[in-house]
This record gives sequence, structure tokens and C-alpha cells, in this order.
Amino acid sequence: MPLSNRNSVAARLQAMADEGRSSARTLSHQLAPADYGQLSQQLAALISGEKDRVANLANCAALLWQGMPAINWVGFYLLKRNTLVLGPFQGKPACTRIEVGRGVCGLAAQMLKAVIVGNVDEFPGHIACDRSSKSEIVLPLILDGRLIGLLDIDSPEVDRFDHIDQQGLERIVQVLIAQL
Ligand code: SME
Repeated sequence: MPLSNRNSVAARLQAMADEGRSSARTLSHQLAPADYGQLSQQLAALISGEKDRVANLANCAALLWQGMPAINWVGFYLLKRNTLVLGPFQGKPACTRIEVGRGVCGLAAQMLKAVIVGNVDEFPGHIACDRSSKSEIVLPLILDGRLIGLLDIDSPEVDRFDHIDQQGLERIVQVLIAQL
């Protein structure tokens, strides 16, 4: 086979392999979605009888880190004097303080609603703690009608989170809030 043909066959094989790898990555969470029912039962068992807020937030972050596929960061920001301050988390070190209104976390804090960003590169003001993060979901923690913090989860996949994740995570947050 002439060298130029061999090169183009090699290039096509490489392209197919790359495509396979990227669709495998994209599909990874669809093949094995998080079992939020099981996770919320596990969380309830983990935090039952414990009233320490940091301990319960830490175990919740660790549980979600183990149980959710295709994520690269999960953790909490806690509202202190109108600033969101980094709390227990799993993943790479992250920015310590976020002003309400800034970034995805700041928006969720301002709106008191869950925010899903399918592609963080298209979200103006996104605060990039880890360059490999591509999508994000943030849920407010509301205790006795007041915002006390946020659950923030990042994924290296675009469009990783949907309304099923939101509903499942809202269940997790309800279980958690009852023990904070
Ligand atoms: N990306 C977030 C900042 C926190 S990190 O993702 C851990 C934001 O834009 O609010």
C-alpha cells in the first residue's frame, strides 16, 4: 500500500478511535445514571443521629462523589455575611469566596433556585476553578426559609445534568437539610 494511503487509513482509524472515546465519555452517565433513590437512603443513614453541620456536609459530598458518574467536583459553599465561602468538597482545590450574584453559584444564590449550565464556556461570568469543568448544576440549601449555602457539582462533560439530576439532587438536599 502506498505510504499516503497508509497514512490516510491510519488517520481514519485514529479518528474512529477518537470518536469512540468521546462518545463513550458522553454516554458514560447515560449508561449508568446516578441512583438518587439509593443515594438519598444512604445519605439518611450516614447522617442520622449526627447534628454537626460540617460532618454531614462532608459525608454528603463524599457520597455524591462516589455515586455520581462523570463529575469532577462536588461540594458546598456556605453563606457567610452575604458571601459564599467554600465548604466541604471533593475534587481539586477551588475558589474560596464567591460574591452573591457572581458566577453560576452566585446566580443560584440570588435566584434561590437550582441552576443548570450545559456549557460553562457559554455562561458569561462563569468562575472557572478547574479548566476541565464543562457543565455545572447548583442547588440552593434553604433552611427555615433562609439561604444557608449551595450544593455545586461540576462535570467534564457538556450537558451532563438534566431535570432528572435536578429532581434527584433536590431529594438529596431535602434529606441533608433536615440534619443541618
Ligand atoms: N464554577 C462556579 C464556581 C465554583 S467551582 O465550580 C467549584 C461558579 O461559576 O459559580
